[in-house]
Amino acid sequence: MSELTFDRHRRLRQSSSIRRMIRETTLSHDDFIYPIFVKESGSEVTEVASMPGVFQWPLHEVLSEVKEVVELGIPSIILFGLPAEKDAEGSQAFHDHGIVQEATRVIKEAYPELTVIADTCLCQFTDHGHCGVIKDGEIDNDPSLSILAQTAVSQAKAGADIIAPSNMMDGFVNAIRHGLDEAGFTHVPIMAYSVKYASAFYGPFRDAAHGAPSFGDRKTYQMDPANREEAIREAQSDLEEGADFLIVKPALSYLDIIREVKDYSGVPLVAYNVSGEYAMVKAAALNGWINEREVVLEKLLSMKRAGADLILTYHAKDAVKWMNESN
Ligand code: PBG
Ligand code: ZN
Repeated sequence: MSELTFDRHRRLRQSSSIRRMIRETTLSHDDFIYPIFVKESGSEVTEVASMPGVFQWPLHEVLSEVKEVVELGIPSIILFGLPAEKDAEGSQAFHDHGIVQEATRVIKEAYPELTVIADTCLCQFTDHGHCGVIKDGEIDNDPSLSILAQTAVSQAKAGADIIAPSNMMDGFVNAIRHGLDEAGFTHVPIMAYSVKYASAFYGPFRDAAHGAPSFGDRKTYQMDPANREEAIREAQSDLEEGADFLIVKPALSYLDIIREVKDYSGVPLVAYNVSGEYAMVKAAALNGWINEREVVLEKLLSMKRAGADLILTYHAKDAVKWMNESN
C-alpha cells in the first residue's frame, strides 16, 4: 500500500553549502553600472538631499569617485551632466566642451579600461526641462532627433564607450545610429532606454540632475505604467533600429516587464533601479526600520532573477562592498 507522501523541499535548504549549490541567481560586481552626476558650476561636492550617499561632482573632484568605483571592480559608469547654462535647444548637450564631454575625457584618460556610458538626453540642458525641443507648447519629435544625434556624436568624440539615449522620442535609435555611423563611430554601441515609463519614481533624480520639466509632464513621450504589450512594441522598434542593449526603467515595480522584454528580445537587458527606489530604501534604513544591506541585496537579486543581465543602480558601490564582506 502506498502511503500518503509529500515533497521534502527542506532537504535542499538544510545547510549554507547546499543552499549555495542549488542557488539559481547570483550577483557579481560585473553586473553593475554606477551613475555619476557631474556639474559645471561650483567647486563644491554636493550631496543630493533626497539621495543620501549620492553627490554632484565638479570636474576637478570626480576622479576620486571614479577611483572608488574602479577599485571595487565595477566595470562601468554612466554620466549625467549638470550644465552651467540652459537654453531652448539644450545646446550644452552637444557642445564639444560640454560638461559630459569634458568629464568623459578626464575619466577616460585616467581610467582607459573603465567603460564610460553617456546618457543622451536634452532635459538637463533645456531651459524648459523637456527631453526634446518645443514647438507650440508640444514636444516636437523630429527636430529633436538631429539634436540628439549630434549630442551622441559629440559624446563619442569625447571618448564615450557606449551611448545611452533616455529621451523617448520616436526614432531616436535610428537617428543616433546613423549619426554615429556617419561620423565613423560604427563600433560604439547604443544602450537604449527603450521601455521607459512615465514614473513618479524619478522624483529624486530630477533634484539631482536639475531636470524637472517647467510645464506639463512627460506622459506624451514616456510610457503609461498600465501597459505591458506596448513594452514589446517599444523594444521591437528599437531593436530594428539598431539598439545593442535594452533598458527597462524603473525596475522594482516593473519586474514583470523585465522578464517579458528579456524573453522576447534575447539581447543584453539592463534594469534601471531608479532614484525613487533608492530614496525609499535609504529613508527607511536611516530610520532604522529595515536592514539596508539585506533589503538592497534582495532587491538587486530580484532584478537579476526577473531577467536583467545588468543593473544600473545608485546602490552599486555599497552592494559590492557588502558582497565582498560576505565572501
Ligand atoms: C532624463 C532621465 C531621467 C532619469 C534618467 N534620465 C528622468 C526623467 O526621465 O524624468 C531617471 C533616473 C532616476 O530616477 O534615477 N531623461
Ligand atoms: Zn530627458
